[in-house]
Amino acid sequence: MAVEQPVGVPDHPAAAGDATAVAHPNIALIKYWGKRDERLVLPWTDSLSLTLDVFPTTTRVRLAPGAGRDAVTLDGVPLAGEPRRRVVAFLELVRERAGLALPAVVETRNTVPTGAGLASSASGFAALAAAAGAAYGLGLDATGLSRLARRGSGSAARSVFGGFALWHAGQPGHADADLGSYAEPLPVPVRALDPALVVAVVDAGPKAVSSREAMRHTVDTSPLYRPWAASSQADLIEMRHALDRADLDAVGEIAERNALGMHATMLAARPAVRYLSAATLTVLDAVLELRRGGVAAYATMDAGPNVKVLCRGADAQRVAAAVRGAVGTAAVHLAGPGPGARLLGANPDAN
Ligand code: ADP
Ligand code: DP6
Ligand code: CO
Repeated sequence: MAVEQPVGVPDHPAAAGDATAVAHPNIALIKYWGKRDERLVLPWTDSLSLTLDVFPTTTRVRLAPGAGRDAVTLDGVPLAGEPRRRVVAFLELVRERAGLALPAVVETRNTVPTGAGLASSASGFAALAAAAGAAYGLGLDATGLSRLARRGSGSAARSVFGGFALWHAGQPGHADADLGSYAEPLPVPVRALDPALVVAVVDAGPKAVSSREAMRHTVDTSPLYRPWAASSQADLIEMRHALDRADLDAVGEIAERNALGMHATMLAARPAVRYLSAATLTVLDAVLELRRGGVAAYATMDAGPNVKVLCRGADAQRVAAAVRGAVGTAAVHLAGPGPGARLLGANPDAN
Protein backbone atom coordinates (compact mmCIF):
# COMPACT_ATOMS: atom_id res chain seq x y z
CA MET A 1 0.00 0.00 0.00
CA ALA A 2 1.31 3.47 -0.88
CA VAL A 3 2.43 5.29 2.24
CA GLU A 4 0.57 8.46 1.17
CA GLN A 5 -2.73 6.60 1.23
CA PRO A 6 -4.73 7.56 4.32
CA VAL A 7 -4.88 4.56 6.63
CA GLY A 8 -8.19 2.75 6.34
CA VAL A 9 -9.30 4.00 2.91
CA PRO A 10 -7.02 2.13 0.47
CA ASP A 11 -10.00 1.26 -1.75
CA HIS A 12 -11.29 4.83 -1.85
CA PRO A 13 -8.66 7.03 -3.43
CA ALA A 14 -11.14 9.94 -3.46
CA ALA A 15 -11.50 9.84 0.32
CA ALA A 16 -9.10 12.32 1.93
CA GLY A 17 -9.51 10.49 5.24
CA ASP A 18 -8.98 13.75 7.11
CA ALA A 19 -10.47 17.10 6.14
CA THR A 20 -11.19 20.43 7.79
CA ALA A 21 -13.76 22.95 6.59
CA VAL A 22 -14.91 26.43 7.58
CA ALA A 23 -18.40 27.84 7.08
CA HIS A 24 -20.22 30.97 8.24
CA PRO A 25 -23.78 31.45 9.47
CA ASN A 26 -26.37 33.02 7.18
CA ILE A 27 -29.32 35.19 8.09
CA ALA A 28 -32.51 34.75 6.09
CA LEU A 29 -34.22 37.86 4.72
CA ILE A 30 -37.03 35.58 3.52
CA LYS A 31 -37.36 32.87 6.14
CA TYR A 32 -37.43 29.10 5.98
CA TRP A 33 -40.03 27.97 8.49
CA GLY A 34 -41.74 24.63 8.07
CA LYS A 35 -40.89 21.30 6.42
CA ARG A 36 -43.03 19.31 4.02
CA ASP A 37 -40.72 16.32 4.52
CA GLU A 38 -38.93 15.87 7.85
CA ARG A 39 -36.60 13.07 6.77
CA LEU A 40 -35.35 14.74 3.61
CA VAL A 41 -35.53 18.25 5.13
CA LEU A 42 -37.66 19.66 2.33
CA PRO A 43 -39.22 23.04 3.12
CA TRP A 44 -42.67 24.34 2.21
CA THR A 45 -41.25 27.60 0.87
CA ASP A 46 -38.21 29.06 -0.86
CA SER A 47 -35.95 31.21 1.31
CA LEU A 48 -33.28 33.85 0.70
CA SER A 49 -30.33 34.76 2.89
CA LEU A 50 -27.08 36.63 3.40
CA THR A 51 -24.04 34.65 4.53
CA LEU A 52 -22.06 36.58 7.14
CA ASP A 53 -18.36 37.40 7.45
CA VAL A 54 -18.40 36.79 11.22
CA PHE A 55 -18.86 33.76 13.50
CA PRO A 56 -17.18 30.97 11.49
CA THR A 57 -17.53 27.30 12.42
CA THR A 58 -14.49 25.08 11.86
CA THR A 59 -15.02 21.33 11.60
CA ARG A 60 -12.49 18.53 11.21
CA VAL A 61 -13.55 15.02 10.21
CA ARG A 62 -11.07 12.14 10.46
CA LEU A 63 -11.85 8.57 9.55
CA ALA A 64 -11.11 6.31 12.49
CA PRO A 65 -10.80 2.69 11.29
CA GLY A 66 -10.11 1.30 14.74
CA ALA A 67 -12.92 3.07 16.58
CA GLY A 68 -16.15 1.33 17.57
CA ARG A 69 -18.31 4.41 16.99
CA ASP A 70 -18.21 8.05 16.00
CA ALA A 71 -16.59 10.48 18.45
CA VAL A 72 -18.06 13.97 18.21
CA THR A 73 -16.97 17.05 20.15
CA LEU A 74 -18.31 20.60 19.97
CA ASP A 75 -15.98 23.24 21.41
CA GLY A 76 -13.96 20.40 22.98
CA VAL A 77 -16.93 18.84 24.79
CA PRO A 78 -18.31 15.43 23.72
CA LEU A 79 -21.79 15.80 22.23
CA ALA A 80 -24.60 13.70 23.68
CA GLY A 81 -28.34 13.34 23.15
CA GLU A 82 -30.08 14.97 20.20
CA PRO A 83 -27.11 17.10 18.99
CA ARG A 84 -24.96 13.95 18.79
CA ARG A 85 -27.75 11.98 17.14
CA ARG A 86 -28.07 14.64 14.43
CA VAL A 87 -24.35 14.51 13.61
CA VAL A 88 -24.24 10.70 13.64
CA ALA A 89 -27.34 10.48 11.40
CA PHE A 90 -25.63 12.89 9.02
CA LEU A 91 -22.46 10.78 8.98
CA GLU A 92 -24.59 7.70 8.30
CA LEU A 93 -25.94 9.39 5.19
CA VAL A 94 -22.42 10.29 4.06
CA ARG A 95 -21.16 6.74 4.71
CA GLU A 96 -24.04 5.21 2.80
CA ARG A 97 -23.33 7.45 -0.19
CA ALA A 98 -19.59 6.84 -0.01
CA GLY A 99 -19.95 3.10 0.42
CA LEU A 100 -17.51 3.43 3.28
CA ALA A 101 -18.61 2.19 6.71
CA LEU A 102 -15.78 3.61 8.82
CA PRO A 103 -16.58 5.66 11.92
CA ALA A 104 -15.17 9.17 12.28
CA VAL A 105 -13.75 11.58 14.79
CA VAL A 106 -15.53 14.93 14.41
CA GLU A 107 -14.15 18.01 16.12
CA THR A 108 -16.15 21.17 15.58
CA ARG A 109 -15.81 24.67 16.99
CA ASN A 110 -18.40 27.42 16.82
CA THR A 111 -17.59 31.06 17.30
CA VAL A 112 -21.29 31.87 17.25
CA PRO A 113 -23.37 31.06 20.35
CA THR A 114 -24.87 27.60 19.78
CA GLY A 115 -28.66 27.31 19.60
CA ALA A 116 -29.29 31.01 20.25
CA GLY A 117 -31.06 31.92 17.02
CA LEU A 118 -27.82 33.02 15.38
CA ALA A 119 -27.71 30.18 12.84
CA SER A 120 -25.16 27.83 14.43
CA SER A 121 -26.90 24.90 12.75
CA ALA A 122 -26.31 26.58 9.36
CA SER A 123 -22.56 27.14 9.78
CA GLY A 124 -22.29 23.86 11.71
CA PHE A 125 -23.82 21.56 9.10
CA ALA A 126 -22.35 23.42 6.12
CA ALA A 127 -18.87 22.91 7.62
CA LEU A 128 -19.66 19.29 8.50
CA ALA A 129 -20.96 18.57 5.00
CA ALA A 130 -17.83 20.02 3.40
CA ALA A 131 -15.43 18.25 5.77
CA ALA A 132 -17.23 14.89 5.83
CA GLY A 133 -17.81 15.00 2.06
CA ALA A 134 -14.05 15.38 1.53
CA ALA A 135 -13.01 12.92 4.25
CA TYR A 136 -15.28 10.21 2.82
CA GLY A 137 -14.57 11.18 -0.80
CA LEU A 138 -18.05 12.08 -2.07
CA GLY A 139 -16.65 14.36 -4.79
CA LEU A 140 -19.61 16.75 -4.66
CA ASP A 141 -19.95 20.01 -6.55
CA ALA A 142 -21.38 23.05 -4.74
CA THR A 143 -24.98 22.14 -5.60
CA GLY A 144 -24.49 18.61 -4.33
CA LEU A 145 -22.88 19.97 -1.18
CA SER A 146 -25.85 22.27 -0.64
CA ARG A 147 -28.28 19.34 -0.95
CA LEU A 148 -26.18 17.33 1.48
CA ALA A 149 -25.85 20.17 4.03
CA ARG A 150 -29.65 20.58 3.86
CA ARG A 151 -30.06 17.09 5.32
CA GLY A 152 -28.21 18.21 8.47
CA SER A 153 -30.07 21.50 8.90
CA GLY A 154 -32.17 23.17 6.25
CA SER A 155 -30.57 26.59 6.67
CA ALA A 156 -27.13 25.00 6.13
CA ALA A 157 -27.98 24.53 2.44
CA ARG A 158 -27.55 28.31 2.09
CA SER A 159 -24.27 28.62 4.05
CA VAL A 160 -22.52 26.56 1.37
CA PHE A 161 -22.55 29.81 -0.63
CA GLY A 162 -21.17 33.24 0.15
CA GLY A 163 -23.15 36.47 -0.12
CA PHE A 164 -26.82 36.23 -1.04
CA ALA A 165 -28.25 32.75 -1.58
CA LEU A 166 -31.62 31.42 -2.65
CA TRP A 167 -32.75 28.01 -1.40
CA HIS A 168 -35.27 26.38 -3.73
CA ALA A 169 -37.92 24.42 -1.90
CA GLY A 170 -38.22 22.14 -4.93
CA GLN A 171 -41.40 20.80 -6.48
CA PRO A 172 -43.76 19.09 -4.03
CA GLY A 173 -44.71 15.71 -5.45
CA HIS A 174 -41.67 15.53 -7.71
CA ALA A 175 -40.34 12.00 -8.19
CA ASP A 176 -36.91 12.84 -6.75
CA ALA A 177 -37.70 15.78 -4.51
CA ASP A 178 -34.23 15.66 -2.96
CA LEU A 179 -32.65 16.71 -6.26
CA GLY A 180 -34.81 19.80 -6.62
CA SER A 181 -34.07 21.33 -3.22
CA TYR A 182 -30.75 23.16 -3.02
CA ALA A 183 -29.43 26.68 -2.63
CA GLU A 184 -27.61 28.73 -5.22
CA PRO A 185 -25.81 32.06 -5.15
CA LEU A 186 -28.02 35.00 -6.07
CA PRO A 187 -26.41 37.73 -8.14
CA VAL A 188 -27.03 41.01 -6.29
CA PRO A 189 -25.45 44.45 -6.89
CA VAL A 190 -23.75 44.23 -3.51
CA ARG A 191 -21.64 47.38 -3.89
CA ALA A 192 -24.65 49.53 -4.65
CA LEU A 193 -26.71 47.90 -1.89
CA ASP A 194 -23.87 48.14 0.69
CA PRO A 195 -25.60 45.75 3.10
CA ALA A 196 -24.56 45.34 6.74
CA LEU A 197 -26.11 43.43 9.61
CA VAL A 198 -25.72 44.77 13.12
CA VAL A 199 -26.11 41.70 15.32
CA ALA A 200 -27.49 42.45 18.78
CA VAL A 201 -26.87 39.50 21.08
CA VAL A 202 -29.29 40.18 23.92
CA ASP A 203 -29.10 36.58 25.18
CA ALA A 204 -26.39 34.14 24.08
CA GLY A 205 -27.96 31.19 25.90
CA PRO A 206 -29.41 28.19 24.07
CA LYS A 207 -33.11 28.24 23.19
CA ALA A 208 -35.48 26.02 25.16
CA VAL A 209 -37.12 24.69 21.98
CA SER A 210 -35.00 23.92 18.89
CA SER A 211 -35.85 25.46 15.51
CA ARG A 212 -36.70 21.97 14.33
CA GLU A 213 -39.30 21.28 17.02
CA ALA A 214 -40.72 24.80 16.90
CA MET A 215 -41.31 24.79 13.16
CA ARG A 216 -42.88 21.31 13.31
CA HIS A 217 -45.26 22.45 16.05
CA THR A 218 -46.08 25.62 14.09
CA VAL A 219 -46.91 23.74 10.89
CA ASP A 220 -49.02 21.26 12.87
CA THR A 221 -51.01 23.70 15.01
CA SER A 222 -50.83 27.32 13.84
CA PRO A 223 -53.80 28.65 11.84
CA LEU A 224 -51.49 31.39 10.58
CA TYR A 225 -48.94 29.03 9.07
CA ARG A 226 -50.48 28.55 5.62
CA PRO A 227 -51.29 32.25 5.08
CA TRP A 228 -47.72 33.16 6.07
CA ALA A 229 -46.24 30.55 3.70
CA ALA A 230 -48.34 31.96 0.85
CA SER A 231 -47.36 35.56 1.64
CA SER A 232 -43.71 34.52 1.99
CA GLN A 233 -43.64 33.33 -1.62
CA ALA A 234 -45.01 36.75 -2.63
CA ASP A 235 -42.41 38.47 -0.40
CA LEU A 236 -39.68 36.52 -2.15
CA ILE A 237 -40.70 37.83 -5.57
CA GLU A 238 -40.75 41.40 -4.29
CA MET A 239 -37.46 40.85 -2.47
CA ARG A 240 -35.72 39.72 -5.63
CA HIS A 241 -36.85 42.87 -7.44
CA ALA A 242 -35.73 45.05 -4.51
CA LEU A 243 -32.31 43.37 -4.49
CA ASP A 244 -31.98 43.76 -8.27
CA ARG A 245 -32.46 47.51 -7.99
CA ALA A 246 -30.30 47.75 -4.83
CA ASP A 247 -33.21 49.30 -2.92
CA LEU A 248 -32.13 48.80 0.68
CA ASP A 249 -35.29 50.32 2.14
CA ALA A 250 -37.50 47.94 0.20
CA VAL A 251 -35.22 44.98 1.05
CA GLY A 252 -35.41 45.93 4.74
CA GLU A 253 -39.16 46.46 4.77
CA ILE A 254 -39.83 43.10 3.13
CA ALA A 255 -37.33 41.27 5.37
CA GLU A 256 -38.79 42.81 8.53
CA ARG A 257 -42.39 41.98 7.68
CA ASN A 258 -41.44 38.46 6.60
CA ALA A 259 -39.71 37.81 9.93
CA LEU A 260 -42.48 39.37 12.03
CA GLY A 261 -44.99 37.26 10.11
CA MET A 262 -42.99 34.13 10.87
CA HIS A 263 -43.01 35.01 14.57
CA ALA A 264 -46.76 35.63 14.32
CA THR A 265 -47.20 32.03 13.10
CA MET A 266 -45.39 30.82 16.23
CA LEU A 267 -47.35 33.08 18.57
CA ALA A 268 -50.55 31.64 17.08
CA ALA A 269 -49.38 28.02 17.52
CA ARG A 270 -51.16 26.00 20.22
CA PRO A 271 -49.54 26.35 22.67
CA ALA A 272 -47.60 29.41 21.51
CA VAL A 273 -43.87 29.37 20.86
CA ARG A 274 -42.33 32.69 21.76
CA TYR A 275 -38.67 33.47 21.12
CA LEU A 276 -38.93 37.26 21.29
CA SER A 277 -38.09 38.71 24.70
CA ALA A 278 -38.50 42.13 26.35
CA ALA A 279 -34.95 42.98 25.22
CA THR A 280 -35.88 42.02 21.64
CA LEU A 281 -38.74 44.51 21.71
CA THR A 282 -36.46 47.20 23.15
CA VAL A 283 -34.14 46.73 20.16
CA LEU A 284 -37.15 46.85 17.81
CA ASP A 285 -38.14 50.20 19.37
CA ALA A 286 -34.60 51.49 18.80
CA VAL A 287 -34.83 50.42 15.15
CA LEU A 288 -38.11 52.32 14.75
CA GLU A 289 -36.51 55.35 16.36
CA LEU A 290 -33.60 55.15 13.91
CA ARG A 291 -36.05 55.08 11.01
CA ARG A 292 -37.90 58.09 12.39
CA GLY A 293 -34.53 59.83 12.40
CA GLY A 294 -34.03 59.01 8.72
CA VAL A 295 -31.64 56.04 9.09
CA ALA A 296 -32.51 52.99 6.99
CA ALA A 297 -32.58 50.21 9.63
CA TYR A 298 -34.76 47.11 9.60
CA ALA A 299 -34.89 44.18 12.01
CA THR A 300 -35.03 40.44 11.55
CA MET A 301 -35.16 37.73 14.22
CA ASP A 302 -34.80 33.97 13.95
CA ALA A 303 -35.64 31.26 16.45
CA GLY A 304 -34.24 33.19 19.41
CA PRO A 305 -34.41 36.64 21.02
CA ASN A 306 -31.39 38.10 19.24
CA VAL A 307 -31.89 40.81 16.63
CA LYS A 308 -30.11 41.36 13.33
CA VAL A 309 -30.49 44.93 12.07
CA LEU A 310 -30.12 45.37 8.32
CA CYS A 311 -28.67 48.73 7.35
CA ARG A 312 -26.17 50.32 4.98
CA GLY A 313 -22.53 49.64 5.75
CA ALA A 314 -22.08 53.41 5.92
CA ASP A 315 -24.64 53.58 8.77
CA ALA A 316 -23.54 50.46 10.68
CA GLN A 317 -21.59 52.25 13.43
CA ARG A 318 -24.46 54.61 14.11
CA VAL A 319 -26.95 51.73 14.21
CA ALA A 320 -24.66 49.78 16.53
CA ALA A 321 -24.41 52.76 18.89
CA ALA A 322 -28.20 53.12 18.97
CA VAL A 323 -28.62 49.42 19.77
CA ARG A 324 -25.99 49.59 22.52
CA GLY A 325 -27.72 52.66 23.91
CA ALA A 326 -31.04 50.82 23.99
CA VAL A 327 -29.81 47.57 25.60
CA GLY A 328 -26.62 48.22 27.53
CA THR A 329 -26.09 44.53 28.19
CA ALA A 330 -26.22 43.49 24.51
CA ALA A 331 -23.05 42.38 22.74
CA VAL A 332 -23.15 44.10 19.35
CA HIS A 333 -21.33 42.73 16.28
CA LEU A 334 -20.99 44.27 12.83
CA ALA A 335 -21.29 41.87 9.92
CA GLY A 336 -21.15 42.11 6.16
CA PRO A 337 -21.42 39.62 3.31
CA GLY A 338 -19.16 36.64 3.93
CA PRO A 339 -17.73 33.66 2.04
CA GLY A 340 -19.17 30.24 1.31
CA ALA A 341 -18.04 27.00 2.94
CA ARG A 342 -14.49 26.04 2.07
CA LEU A 343 -12.02 23.27 2.76
CA LEU A 344 -8.77 24.15 4.44
CA GLY A 345 -5.55 22.70 3.02
CA ALA A 346 -4.65 19.12 3.84
CA ASN A 347 -3.87 18.63 7.51
CA PRO A 348 -0.12 18.21 7.87
CA ASP A 349 -0.53 15.58 10.60
CA ALA A 350 -3.05 13.52 8.61
CA ASN A 351 -2.22 9.82 8.75
P1 ADP B 1 -29.47 27.88 15.83
O1 ADP B 1 -30.36 29.06 15.97
O2 ADP B 1 -28.18 28.05 16.57
O3 ADP B 1 -29.27 27.44 14.41
P2 ADP B 1 -30.96 25.36 16.05
O4 ADP B 1 -32.01 24.97 17.02
O5 ADP B 1 -31.34 25.48 14.64
O6 ADP B 1 -30.28 26.72 16.59
O7 ADP B 1 -29.77 24.34 16.06
C1 ADP B 1 -28.94 24.15 17.17
C2 ADP B 1 -28.38 22.77 17.03
O8 ADP B 1 -27.56 22.71 15.86
C3 ADP B 1 -27.46 22.35 18.14
O9 ADP B 1 -28.18 21.91 19.26
C4 ADP B 1 -26.72 21.21 17.46
O10 ADP B 1 -27.55 20.07 17.38
C5 ADP B 1 -26.57 21.74 16.06
N1 ADP B 1 -25.24 22.38 15.88
C6 ADP B 1 -24.87 23.64 16.15
N2 ADP B 1 -23.57 23.84 15.86
C7 ADP B 1 -23.10 22.68 15.38
C8 ADP B 1 -21.82 22.24 14.90
N3 ADP B 1 -20.79 23.07 14.85
N4 ADP B 1 -21.69 20.95 14.49
C9 ADP B 1 -22.76 20.11 14.53
N5 ADP B 1 -23.98 20.46 14.97
C10 ADP B 1 -24.15 21.73 15.39
C1 DP6 C 1 -35.83 30.87 11.87
O1 DP6 C 1 -32.34 25.38 9.58
O2 DP6 C 1 -32.21 25.70 12.06
O3 DP6 C 1 -33.54 30.53 11.31
O4 DP6 C 1 -33.73 22.45 9.28
O5 DP6 C 1 -34.71 21.85 11.48
O6 DP6 C 1 -32.27 22.34 11.30
P1 DP6 C 1 -33.64 22.62 10.77
O7 DP6 C 1 -33.94 24.16 11.10
P2 DP6 C 1 -33.04 25.45 10.88
O8 DP6 C 1 -34.19 26.57 10.79
C2 DP6 C 1 -33.89 27.91 10.56
C3 DP6 C 1 -35.09 28.74 10.86
C4 DP6 C 1 -34.84 30.24 10.87
C5 DP6 C 1 -35.11 30.86 9.51
C6 DP6 C 1 -34.06 30.66 8.45
O9 DP6 C 1 -32.86 30.55 8.74
O10 DP6 C 1 -34.45 30.65 7.26
CO1 CO D 1 -30.68 26.61 13.08
